[in-house]
Parts: sequence; structure tokens; C-alpha cells
Amino acid sequence: MRHSKLKDFPKDFLWSASTSAYQVEGAWNEDGKGMSVQDAKTSLPEGTSDFKVASDHYHHFEEDIAFLGEMGLKAYRFSISWTRIIPDGDGKINTKGVQFYHKLIDACLSYNIEPIVTMYHFDLPFELEKKGGWNNRTTIDAFLKFSKILFEQYGSKVKYFLTINEQNMMILHGAAIGTSKGSGINIWKELYQQNHNMLVAQAKAMELCHKLCPNSKIGPAPNIASIYPASSKPEDYLAAQNFTAIRNWLYLDMAVFGRYNSTAWSYLEEIDAVPKIEEGDMEILRNAKPDFIAFNYYNTATVKANNDAKKVQDSSGDQQLAVFEAGVFEGVQNPNLEKTEFGWEIDPVGFRITLREVYDRYNLPIIVTENGLGAFDKLEDGTVHDDYRIEYYKKHLHEIKEAITDGVKVFGYSPWSAIDLVSTHQGVTKRYGFIYVNRDEFDLKDLKRYKKDSFYWYKKVIEENGNNL
Ligand code: BG6
Repeated sequence: MRHSKLKDFPKDFLWSASTSAYQVEGAWNEDGKGMSVQDAKTSLPEGTSDFKVASDHYHHFEEDIAFLGEMGLKAYRFSISWTRIIPDGDGKINTKGVQFYHKLIDACLSYNIEPIVTMYHFDLPFELEKKGGWNNRTTIDAFLKFSKILFEQYGSKVKYFLTINEQNMMILHGAAIGTSKGSGINIWKELYQQNHNMLVAQAKAMELCHKLCPNSKIGPAPNIASIYPASSKPEDYLAAQNFTAIRNWLYLDMAVFGRYNSTAWSYLEEIDAVPKIEEGDMEILRNAKPDFIAFNYYNTATVKANNDAKKVQDSSGDQQLAVFEAGVFEGVQNPNLEKTEFGWEIDPVGFRITLREVYDRYNLPIIVTENGLGAFDKLEDGTVHDDYRIEYYKKHLHEIKEAITDGVKVFGYSPWSAIDLVSTHQGVTKRYGFIYVNRDEFDLKDLKRYKKDSFYWYKKVIEENGNNL
């Protein structure tokens, strides 16, 4: 639909930016913090840094939040490291960890920045992983215990909680991200059991939030992307339906309606990965209701039919690139789209399509909690001329305006990332931030911060409430 006039962003639109604890904080073993699965990785992709120092945000947070204040952010999305709060995942509370996030939240509030807290972003406590991780239902209780601490400690200051970041990517691409990759002959049986257990944990956490923090709102934060059929062949359309049911709706249907969609369920039956559902689980899932939907969007995917009988999929492929499931769908390149330097397709119009699809299906307010461009930024004369990133953001923000005019309720935009950090599996070299952090893959240099061109651009966008993109 071509609109003759686009609607404005809402007056109280949450102009935000995002990070996650293990990718930005560093201080991996300081002040009582326990090890997470990310700290415990024994092998990293060749030539990439570990997460021990990252952007050293733990020691630079006051300076970093001051930068975000200067940029004019209305919100800042960060995650809380579970092992800073409970070092072994379900034992004693670490007071210094609890205090750190009080200081971080207070710093945000002092600049009128609304903290948006992700409760769990890929960093399961390693001690829990050793006991089976999400295969073990006691991890559900551990997550609840951790959630309760977060709600009790921060609930009076935090209006927006996000439960689990990209649970769908943890299941589909766990080996690449460094979360669980499953084991045994049928890894999918194990991974979809973990998935079910995580969904139950999420539902219980949402209920608890509503009980303990009447003034806060909570929602899930998967990675959602519309899926195109490669052609008008009906078989390709079916493949696109399959992939969207498995990749997108499985997670959001469970969070919002508490039901497995029929296509995803028949897929689980087909690959012998139906999870064991305990008595009471479905009731818990049906009763829990998110207040909004948060989702991360990088790009759409395009698939064609695949009728191969063998199932040879593992979870080590890149989250936006490895799209294949024998007999179900097969990813193809979309010739209509440009790509980032890291091969991810760029699809702003697909962003509008995704926003419309999510809103039509769930009818809940939406906040976009990640979107951004990973690039080989170069520091020159104390800045980075990242006009390519500005172009990317302009186009995506334009499509949000189109979607808002279409009637989609979008209340915030939190691009990835607020400051440079360590990417999930491609190191420091793949940069996303509005603020450059002076370090290389293995040379920590001085970790000094520099404002990129996109910093000044986003500041102006926020000042003008997105009126002159
Ligand atoms: C999302 C994650 O999947 O994409 C982030 O929530 C991640 O943690 C971001 O950093 C970009 O991916 P990558 O692999 O480039 O770091």
C-alpha cells in the first residue's frame, strides 16, 4: 500500500539502543561473578576474541551511560548477567552483582533513560549447564529464583522486562552462538525439550512479574523475520510456511497463546522431537500473557521446497545465513537484496512486512529490540565515518513509519548496538555500535570511546522524533 502521507512516530516513542551483558561488560570473573557458558567456551572461531574483557563496560558504565545520555536516548536495553547475581545459577546471591545493576539502572534514570532489562541473553550459568542446562527441569526453578530477585530488586525502577533473548536462535543455531548444541543421535529431540522447558520458565516468569511488579511490563524477545517463497510455485510457498511456523510462530504462539502451532507440531513429530510435556505445563503456558512483543530483526529469508529424505541439519550455521532443513525448506539468496560486508541480506521493506505480520497475528504493541549493521569500521581522526550504517538505519526507520501508518502499534526502536561489543561468533572486528571502542581482536589498546558519525545522526533523529529521516 502506498500512503499519501506517513504518520509521525508517537510522541513518547522509546528511542533506544541495545547491548547484552556478556558481549559488552567484561570483568568476567570480578566481584564474585560466576562463569557462564560463554565464559566456559573451550574453543572460539579462529581469530576471534573471547568475552573476558569485551568493551569493559563493567568499569566504564558511568562514562558509557553519559554518552547515551548525550545522544538523547529515551531508553537503553541491556541484559543482566545471571552469574553476577547468582554465581552458580541457583545458590547464594552475590551482593556486589546486585549492586552493580542498581548503579547501572540509577545511572540510566539520572539521564531520564528508561532501562529495558533483558533477563537472559545467551549466558546460562555454567554450573547449571554442567547439571544438564535446559534439559534439566530444575533450571526452570533456577530461572524463577533469578527472576524473583530481579523483580524484587529492580521492579520499582524498571518498567520493561524482556524474558529471554532469541530463544529461537538458541535452539536453531546454538552451536554457533555458544549455547547448547544438543547431543546424541537426534540433537533436535534434546533441543526441543530444552525449548519447551525454557518456554515454561518464560511463562512462569511473566506471571511472577505481573504479581510482583504491577507497574512493570514484560514480553518475549525472539528474532523474527518474514519468510519469502523463492518463486510462485505452490511448493515454495509451502516451504516458506513451514519455515515461518518453525522459526517464528512456534515461539510467539507459545508466548502469547500458550499453544504449539499445528505445522510446527507436525514437524516435531516428523523429526521425532516432540517434547515431553508435564502435567500442568500447557495450563501455565496458556495463562501467562505478555504485555507486548519485543523482537529482533536483521533480515528476511527466502526459501524453496526441499524434498530430500535425509535429515542432516546441525546447529552450527550462522543465524541469518544457514537456512536448511532437508524435506522441509531450503534457503536461497534473494537476488533483490543487497548484503552487508558479512553477507547478511539487507531488507528494510521486509522489516515493514515482518512488523505487519507480527501485529496482525498477535495484536500486541511491539518494540524492536535489535536491528543494525555489522561492519569493519575504521577509526580515522578520532571518529568513524559510518555513512553506510546511517543509510541502513534511515531505510529501516522509514519502514517503521510505513508500518505505523499501516496501523501497527510500534512503541520503541532499540538498534544493535549502543556501543561496540564482541559479536556472538565473529569477534570485535564485526562492529555495530554508535560509539567506537578502541580495541582490536587481541590487542586491548586503551579501550577509549569515540563517537561515530551515526552517533550524531541518531541524536538528531531523536531530537526531531524521527520527523526528518
Ligand atoms: C542477535 C543477538 O542474534 O544478533 C546478539 O541477540 C548478536 O547477541 C546480534 O550480537 C548480531 O549477531 P552477531 O553474530 O553479528 O553478533
